[in-house]
Formats: sequence, structure tokens, C-alpha cells
Amino acid sequence: MRHFSWHTRGGTAAAALRIGLGSLCAVALICGGDGHAGSRASVQRPQETVTGKTPEVATLPLPDVLSLPVNVPGGYPMSFTALVGARQVKASWTYVDGLPGLNSQLDSWLLGILDAAAAPAGGRYRPSMALNAAQGSGSAITVSAEPVQANGSVIVVREKVKDTGMNGTGALSSATVYADTASGEVHGAAELLRPEAVAGIRSRVTGVPAGIAGPSPQAPVLADMVLGPAGELQVTAERPAASGRSGEAEMTTIDARDTAAMLSDFGRKVQGQLRAAEVAPPATAPALRHVNCDLVPCAALTYDDGPDPKTTPQLLGILKEKNAQATFFMTGSSTVASPATAKQVADAGHAVGNHTFSHPYLTKLSPAAVRSEMDRTDAAIRAATGLTPSFMRPPYGAADAAVQVAVGRPLILWAVDSLDWQSKNPAVFVPKVLKEITPGAVVLMHDVDPTTIAGQQELITSLQTQGYRLVTVPQLFEGTPLVAGHVYRSRPERK
Ligand code: NI
Repeated sequence: MRHFSWHTRGGTAAAALRIGLGSLCAVALICGGDGHAGSRASVQRPQETVTGKTPEVATLPLPDVLSLPVNVPGGYPMSFTALVGARQVKASWTYVDGLPGLNSQLDSWLLGILDAAAAPAGGRYRPSMALNAAQGSGSAITVSAEPVQANGSVIVVREKVKDTGMNGTGALSSATVYADTASGEVHGAAELLRPEAVAGIRSRVTGVPAGIAGPSPQAPVLADMVLGPAGELQVTAERPAASGRSGEAEMTTIDARDTAAMLSDFGRKVQGQLRAAEVAPPATAPALRHVNCDLVPCAALTYDDGPDPKTTPQLLGILKEKNAQATFFMTGSSTVASPATAKQVADAGHAVGNHTFSHPYLTKLSPAAVRSEMDRTDAAIRAATGLTPSFMRPPYGAADAAVQVAVGRPLILWAVDSLDWQSKNPAVFVPKVLKEITPGAVVLMHDVDPTTIAGQQELITSLQTQGYRLVTVPQLFEGTPLVAGHVYRSRPERK
């Protein structure tokens, strides 16, 4: 494994080790004794100014030093491996419930890296590249984004990219982004500083005098900055090629007094929040847990004609055990017969769609009769679960223009028909689904038949092993708004 050089300028060697030990203790590598020698409260902090000091250098595996994730309320981990062109991309990151601005920043960042990896082969990244991609070549890109500070209303996420070529050479870059749990806003690290202070900091970090062939003010060299608990500014940057030390990331610490003079209003606000011990949870609760199905390969398993008081709870148990989400298209008549089971489905976080009251061919009904089927089912589902379905599925998939207008909401059909009701045999319908499924697909099954339930463990395990994330219909279509009267079978590909 390649180790990246870790230089600390302006601090002492002890200061460099403080940073290293604290992090390495967290991953339990080299801490002897009580294992808490590097605890934050008891260590000496660097107070020297940068200018005029001889650089002290310690070599540490930088990816570990920069990985000290902290838990945040509502945070949930994601990871996958994709084979993009000839490159293997290993990604891990943390979304935070209730912070859509942060989550979408993470998505853009990840998709940008994946698209760049796909570009030499003349294409763009597709989620199918993350299926069965665990076995790859030696040329890997490792990306991660984890919260590294969480205090008051501020969550700081460090985004890292480690690009390792075939010959073992590597490049590491990192950036920090600041999410405000109160406002939902996301800021880049450069916004910590007053604009007029940026050039000075850059010249101290890079050693290149301000104004001389330096990078533009937007250059990513000041992309990774965090404020330490004593008010110091820690700037991590890759040394520019001009210095002859390309490919090495360094951290420069700027003392609290100098830092205070350079902070913007935003930087001062962040510093104020650092004194808070706990992080405040995001102000808004999410309507649904964010998953980006342009990024991860998703599929929506859907189950029709229930709820059934015997088979549906069995399915709920399997879904829970496999940490999978699904969508249930309930009929009004089944819901009226088994309201407690309907509520169990909704309470487990699965999505519920309207499948009409009496399961008729809607194409044979008048618009008024179609609306009545919809309304009575809405009322039954609302009475049982407290929720009103925002989408529907016509029985038998039977819909025409008149039905599309009359139902007055999105019609969710399917891309893969398991024909589970026909074969009543998992050995037939499970391989059929596995053969036909592609990322973005909606899959049709029925939760009222014991033979369907009997195949779910195997089906779900196979899909997850391939890399599929099983999501609800609203999650599958997140970011591509569903329109009333339109028919959907799968998530449209990213434009
Ligand atoms: Ni049906």
C-alpha cells in the first residue's frame, strides 16, 4: 500500500503526531497503553505562526489521518464498487436525512468523478456499472465522503479522492463542505475566509508568493479547511506541481490569532458553533430517505392485490431482515378486510399505491366509475394507514387515454413481470426476474400468494448480492417528478 507523505509546516513534529495519533487511535492501529494518549482534551496544540519556520515532516498514511468520521443524527452510510471503463471505483459516503442540499452536493460530486472515469471509454457513468463489479483491475479510484465535525448547526463533510494508477502511483485530493442543519445550506471551505484573505492563505500554504503565477482564487487548493477547537485553521492541500512535490498532500496549521483576522462572517459563525458539544438535528424531517438511483443501481419490487393477513406479514419480515424497501399496491376491498395489516405495511416505511377497490378492468368502466374505484380505495387506505396514495396501478395494467385522465394520478406499471401468479413456482419466477431486471426497473409480484413469498428470500438476496438497492417507487423516481395521467415502467436514464 502506498503511503502519502504528510508534511506539517509551522507546527512541531509533536503537533503532526498529535494529529496522526488522534486519528490512528480511532482506528486502533498504533495506540499503546490506555489507547487514549491522543485524546483531544489533553494534548498540546500548535500555536506557532507559519512564516519563517523550517518545515517539520512526518510521513503518515494520509488517507487514515484524514479519516476520522463522526456520527451525525440522521446519517446513514452508502457504499458500492463500480467498474467504470478500465477503472474500479470504490465509493463510500454518508447521506444525512433532512439535508437534501448536502445529499445532492454529494451526488453531484460522486457522479462527476464517475463520469470522468467513464469519459476515456467515450461514455458516461451508468448505474449498471456498479453491478457485479467487486472484481476489478489494479487501477482503482477510492472515493469517500464522511462527516468529520458536527457541532451545533454545522456538519463538516470531508470528500476524498485517491486515484491509484496501474503502476502503484497515486494522487490524493480532498475537500471539506459545510452543511448548516438549521438553514439546509451547503458552503465550500473557501467561504470560511474573507475574499481578501484567500490569496495570503494560499501563498502560505503553497509557498508560492501571492500574485506570482499562482492558481486562480477558485482553484481547489483551499478546498480542504477545518477550524480546530482552539480556533486554529487546518488547511490540507496537494502541493502544486510547480514546487516539484506533486502528488503529496500537506496540512498547514494557521494559529488562532491569525485565523481570527481572516474569517468571513460565515467562518465566524462556524467557529461559534464549534463550541457546541452536540449537533442539532436537521430542522426538517425527510419525506423519504434519499437514494440517488442515477448513482446506485436501484430496483423497485412491487406487490399487488394485498394486504393479506397471513402472507403480507411474512413478506414484511423478509424485507425487514434484508433491509429492503418495497411498494404495495393495495386494493380497497383487501384493505377494508385487513386494515391492521395495511397499517403494518405503512408503518414499516414501505410505499402504498392505489390498486382500485374491486380490481376491475378500468377500460370497461365509465370515468365516473373509475373515479369511484379510486376514491373508495383512497378512503380505505387513509382510514387504515393515515396515508393517501399519490400513485396507482390499474389492474391487469389495463389503461387507455380515458382511464389515464380519470385516475388523475401517475400510473405505475412495470418493466419486469414475474408472472408469479401463473407459475406459482419460485424456481420459475425468480430466475425470470433475475434475467430480465435492469437498474431502474419496477418489478411486478403479488403478496397474496404463499408461493410468491417462498421465493422472496432468494430473489432479494440475489439482487442485493449483485449490487441492487431495493427501494420504494417514490425513491426510485426521486428527482424525476411523476406526472398525473402518465404511465411509468422504470426510472428514465439520466440525461
Ligand atoms: Ni392486481
